[in-house]
Amino acid sequence: MAEEAVLVLLLLLLFCSSAAALTTDGLALLALKSAVAVDPTGALSAWLDSDDSPCGWTGVTCRLDRVSALDLPDRALSGYLPSELSLLSELESLTLPGNQFSGPIPAALAALRGLTELDLSSNNLSGPIPPELGQLTSLAHLDLSSNLLSGSLPPSIAGLSHLSGVLNLSCNQLSGPIPLEFGDIPVDVSLDLRQNNLSGEIPQVGPLLSQGPTAFAGNPGLCGFPLKTPCPVPQQDPKIPQPNPSLGLNPSDATARPIIGEKRRSPAGTVMILVVVVLVAVASIFVLQWQFRKRRSAGEGKDSKNEKSSSPSFGGTIAGGSAIEDRREGHASEVYAAVDEGFGLELEELLRASAYVVGKSRNGIVYKVVVGRGPSAVAVRRLSENDDVDAPPGGGGGDEWRRRRAFETEAIAIGRAKHPNVVRLLAYYYAPDERLLIYEYIPNGTLHAALHGGPLNPTAPALPWTARLNILQGVARGLAYLHEFSPRKHAHGGITSSKILLDDELRPHISGFGVARIVSSGQQKLAHSASKKLVSPRVAAGYLPPEARGLAGASSLTQRGDVYAFGVVALEVVTGRSADAELEEWVRRAFKEERPLSEVVDPALLHEVHAKREVLAMFHVALGCTEADPELRPRMRAVVESLDRIGAP
Ligand SMILES: *[C@@H]1O[C@H](CO)[C@@H](O)[C@H](O)[C@H]1NC(C)=O
Ligand SMILES: *[C@@H]1O[C@H](CO)[C@@H](O)[C@H](O)[C@H]1NC(C)=O
Ligand SMILES: *[C@@H]1O[C@H](CO)[C@@H](O)[C@H](O)[C@H]1NC(C)=O
Repeated sequence: MAEEAVLVLLLLLLFCSSAAALTTDGLALLALKSAVAVDPTGALSAWLDSDDSPCGWTGVTCRLDRVSALDLPDRALSGYLPSELSLLSELESLTLPGNQFSGPIPAALAALRGLTELDLSSNNLSGPIPPELGQLTSLAHLDLSSNLLSGSLPPSIAGLSHLSGVLNLSCNQLSGPIPLEFGDIPVDVSLDLRQNNLSGEIPQVGPLLSQGPTAFAGNPGLCGFPLKTPCPVPQQDPKIPQPNPSLGLNPSDATARPIIGEKRRSPAGTVMILVVVVLVAVASIFVLQWQFRKRRSAGEGKDSKNEKSSSPSFGGTIAGGSAIEDRREGHASEVYAAVDEGFGLELEELLRASAYVVGKSRNGIVYKVVVGRGPSAVAVRRLSENDDVDAPPGGGGGDEWRRRRAFETEAIAIGRAKHPNVVRLLAYYYAPDERLLIYEYIPNGTLHAALHGGPLNPTAPALPWTARLNILQGVARGLAYLHEFSPRKHAHGGITSSKILLDDELRPHISGFGVARIVSSGQQKLAHSASKKLVSPRVAAGYLPPEARGLAGASSLTQRGDVYAFGVVALEVVTGRSADAELEEWVRRAFKEERPLSEVVDPALLHEVHAKREVLAMFHVALGCTEADPELRPRMRAVVESLDRIGAP
C-alpha cells in the first residue's frame, strides 16, 4: 500500500503540471507510454495527458470509469513494461502479444488480483518468470510464449486453479526440471512447454502424462514418458539396504515390489516425500481412488488369463474380482479411480450389482450394471485381454508398471472429453488382468438398432426425418469436439452406427472414444514404443475409408477417416440401408445416373415430402465426407456448419 502511494505521488509529480485532472489509471497508462521507446504505428499517440479520462484511448476498455482491459496486440511497440501497470487495480485483461517489449516481467503485476487474462506472448521479455504471478488467483488465461524468458519454472504457476485452455510457456529459454507441482494444474488445461531448455525426468503424475508428447517437445534434456527418450537408469543406489544381494539380482524380484520402490533411484527419504506429494497430487484430481488390500499368495497372474472368455455375465466377474484380490501382491498394481466428480460408487458395490450384456465387440464386452436403490445404471466396458500381453519371465514388473501407466494415461484422456454428444467416462479400474471403463448409461439402444431393428427394439417405429437430422447434427458436433478438444488432435477411429447411442430424447452420444488406443496400449511390450504404432480397430468394411482398406495394419485412426465414417453413417441414416462395402458407391452411382430420389431414400421417409430439400442437402454433405481422396473431405467443424444450415428455417 505504501509503495503504491509513493508511486502515485511520483506519477503526480511527473505529470502534475498538465494532468492534474487525469485519473490514476490514466497516469499509470502514461507511465507505459513513456516506457515505450518506439511506436511505429502511432498506437499511443492519442494517449494525451490533457484528457480527463483514459477510457477513450486506443486499446483501453473501461468499466465504471476504471480501466478493465488493455489490449494492444501486434503494434510493434518496443520499450519495457513499467511496474506502474500494477496501479490499474481493476484490470482484468492485459494483452500485449506481438510487440517488442524487452526487459523483465514486473513482479508488481501480482497486485492485479482481478486479472483473468495475461498475454505477453511474442515479445522480447527476458529474465525469470516472477513466482509472484502465482498470486494472480483469478487468472484463467496465461500466455508467455515466444519470449526470451529464462530461469526455472516457478511451481507457484501450477497453483492457479482457474486456468483453462492452454498454459503456454513455449519458445523461451526456461531451464531446469519440471516441478512436481505441475502435476497439480487443472486437468482440463493443456500445457505447452515446447522449445525450451528444460531437463530431467517428466514427473509421472496424471495431468502431465495425459498431455501427450508435443507438450514437451524441443527440450533436449527432458526424458521419460510421454516422450520417447527413456531416462537413464541410475546405478543401484548404495543407500538402499539390500537385505539379500542374491535376491536383489534376481530380476523377477521386481514383480513383488511396490511401484515406487521399483525405481530405486533416490535415497529413501526423498522417495517418501515423493510418494506423499504424488499421492496428494493424485488425490486432488481423482475424487476417489483406493486400492485393494493385497494378500500374499503364490501364483502370479498367469492362470487368471483363462477367465477372459469364461464369464458370460458380469456375475462371473464378481467371482473373478475377488479371486484377483486374493491373488495380487504387487502393491499398486490395482487402481480404481473416478474421473467424474459426481461419481461415488465403490468398486465392491459395482462388482456386486446385477449386470446384463448389452454389447460385444472385438475390444471387449459392454455390460449394463444396475447400481444402488434408484433406477440408476452405469455401462461397464470390460476390455478384452490380449494374448500377447504375458510379461516375459523376469522383467515383468517394470513392464506391468508401464502397461498400467499407459492405460491410466489413455483413461484420463478419455475422461477429459466432456461433451453432451459424447458418452462420459465416470471411472476406470485397472488390474493386471482386468481393465474396466465405467461410463454413464445411455438407455435407448444404438442408432444401428433404431435404423435397422435389433434385439433391443425389434418393433420400434421408424425414425422421423427431424429425429434423423438432429441425430446427425449431434454426432457431427460430438465428433468435431473430439477432434478439437485436445492439442493431441484425437481421432475416434471406429465411428459406426453401432457406436452411436441414443437417449430417451433420441439425442446421440458417441461411445467408444479412445478404446482403440487403450487396447493397443495394452498390446505394447514397452510404453516407449507406445505411440509408434496404433492398431486400427476392426470396423465394418463400409465405414473404412479407401486409404485404409486392404492394407493390413494400416491405421484408420485419422480425423479424415472419421469424416469418411461419419459420411457413411449419414448415408445409412438417409437410405435406411446397412453400411456394407457397396453403400457409398451405390449412392454415388444413383446420383450420377440421376435416378429418382425415391429409389435411394429410406422408404420410411417417403411420406415426409416436405423434407425433400433437406434430404438432398444431407446427401450432398455425406458424399462430400466420403470423397475417396482424404484431402478433399471437409473438416468435421465445417460439416457441423453445413448440417446446421440444413436445419435452419
Ligand atoms: C527483439 O528480438 C528480435 C529477435 O530476437 C530482434 O531482432 C529485435 O531487435 C529485438 N527487439 C528489441 C527492441 O530488442
Ligand atoms: C503456444 O504459443 C506458440 C507461439 O507463441 C504457438 O505457436 C503455439 O501454437 C501455442 N501452443 C498452443 C497449444 O496453442
Ligand atoms: C541449457 O541448460 C544447460 C544446463 O541445464 C546449460 O548448460 C546450457 O547452456 C543451456 N542451453 C541453452 C541454449 O541455454
